[in-house]
Amino acid sequence: MNPKMKQALVLATLAVTSGVAMAGISATKHNLSTGGTGENHLTAGTEEICVFCHTPHGANTGVTAPLWNKQLPSTTYTTYSTANSSTIDGSVLAVGSVSAACLSCHDGTQAMDSMINEPGSGLDNGATFTWTGARQSGGILQGVAALGADLTNDHPIGIQYCGGGIQSDGAATPASTGSCKDTDFTAPTSDVINGSLVWWVDTGTAGRQKTDMILYTRAFSGTDGPSVECASCHDPHVESKGDATNPQVAFLRVSQAGSGVCLSCHTK
Ligand code: HEC
Ligand code: HEC
Ligand code: HEC
Ligand code: HEC
Repeated sequence: MNPKMKQALVLATLAVTSGVAMAGISATKHNLSTGGTGENHLTAGTEEICVFCHTPHGANTGVTAPLWNKQLPSTTYTTYSTANSSTIDGSVLAVGSVSAACLSCHDGTQAMDSMINEPGSGLDNGATFTWTGARQSGGILQGVAALGADLTNDHPIGIQYCGGGIQSDGAATPASTGSCKDTDFTAPTSDVINGSLVWWVDTGTAGRQKTDMILYTRAFSGTDGPSVECASCHDPHVESKGDATNPQVAFLRVSQAGSGVCLSCHTK
């Protein structure tokens, strides 16, 4: 084979390989392992990807994120409030649900290697990890990736969807009742999954998909209702929903071209 052909073949193979990898978490900035390609991957320590967030055993059950492998930092957050806006309608809850899991790295107070169950035998088996990227210091996120404890400059989270009005009827097989108080929102879809009432904002194919805006069930004044959390807009496992003109690098559930993320919920 002449060198040019060989090069073309290698390039083609690379394109296919990276194309496959792009579909999953391994090619994202959430691959913190030695195999990661983001700025903050390890130079040594572990090739495991999931371990920085999930563990198959001994998980933190105090967090509403599955098999969560981190403790929550004891941060006191300031949430979005009427002090930030005179037009806010929904109630804002304290940081909780899946947002607490995201903020266990993204508030910039806890190191990314503070795991419950470290890779290998034993829980805290003394393994240490050193990242070299500029967006961290001592494993603690820095800069734009660290939202901090003051969440008043961020899109509200723990916020009741569409100004309130949508809630569970509380029956054994719960049903969604009511309608959006603020009609400038896409009405949510609901379903009972394993006995729990869940809501989401449909963006396409019927049924709850990871490309829908997921609403998280939380108690507002004692009654369950849909809440917007970090993972309503972000899917922490998928980073590639863009193209050359609209590169998506922020783990968004849908493309942000034409502000598609915002317009999934807000009718503006
Ligand atoms: C940076 C943190 C992070 C990493 C790394 C991560 N996850 Fe997750 N994962 C989450 C969070 C947060 C949730 C909850 C998201 C939600 O509520 O939609 C989640 C949810 C899930 C779920 C249930 C919901 C769903 O989307 O199906 C599965 C399964 C899952 N993760 C598997 C994995 C596997 C397997 C890996 C490694 C290949 C991995 N995750 C790596 C943060 C992470
Ligand atoms: C184990 C720590 C950890 C957890 C938990 C975590 N992240 Fe991240 N996240 C990171 C790191 C590291 C980066 C890369 C920072 C950088 O290099 O800019 C990142 C980057 C991001 C980015 C920016 C991507 C970009 O390309 O600029 C978004 C958005 C994000 N994370 C959202 C989330 C959300 C939402 C959750 C919860 C569902 C979450 N993260 C949980 C560690 C974490
Ligand atoms: C209402 C939707 C929405 C919610 C809720 C949301 N985000 Fe984002 N986030 C976005 C969008 C859209 C971007 C992309 C902004 C851009 O392109 O600069 C983004 C960007 C980011 C970035 C990258 C910052 C940057 O500009 O490079 C991080 C980190 C992040 N989000 C983390 C979080 C965390 C953690 C939470 C929960 C506390 C959260 N987000 C809640 C929509 C949201
Ligand atoms: C998952 C649904 C959802 C998505 C996606 C979303 N929002 Fe929101 N947004 C809400 C909810 C719910 C509120 C609270 C509204 C209220 O109670 O008045 C809100 C509040 C706001 C507010 C403050 C309104 C006020 O009266 O103070 C602004 C501004 C805003 N969103 C802009 C955006 C932008 C820009 C985007 C895209 C980057 C976006 N939103 C994406 C659900 C969403």
